[in-house]
Amino acid sequence: MKHYSVYDCSIVPLNKIHNRAGNITVVEGETSIPFDIKRVYYLYDIPGGEERGGHAHHGLFQLIVAASGSFEVMLNDGHNKKIVRLNRPDFGLLVVPGIWRELFEFSSGSVCLVLASMKYSEDDYIRDYEEFRKLKG
Ligand code: TYD
Repeated sequence: MKHYSVYDCSIVPLNKIHNRAGNITVVEGETSIPFDIKRVYYLYDIPGGEERGGHAHHGLFQLIVAASGSFEVMLNDGHNKKIVRLNRPDFGLLVVPGIWRELFEFSSGSVCLVLASMKYSEDDYIRDYEEFRKLKG
């Protein structure tokens, strides 16, 4: 695992095409974001007070977007932590490999859209925090 830090995770401004009928935001792999998109998933109907995440990935890049509502993302590289609040569908949070993440404070009806660089593989997950700390030295 390359030793990425929380400072490699950044807010990515996306486009917004506006007309009187509303807005559209388009994300193109390798153009808007630094990876090709292999998978899309979204979290919704999240009960109040629940937390998601609680893991890191060996190789996965992700763009996390508050497609609706708001939530907070805590990023941790084993040395530094950063909390980012997402509340706009035209901004995404780039999360690089090797970052422990926790998502919380979901507003009612929020939708967390995730664009991912790899198909789902449980082998890519690090779900044990002690193992994560060891890997990060
Ligand atoms: P997980 O990634 O742990 O969720 P979160 O980080 O949002 O808390 O995934 C939850 C469950 O869904 C787990 O059993 C694995 C499954 N899952 C898939 O089968 N495919 C996927 O692409 C994802 C993201 C999860």
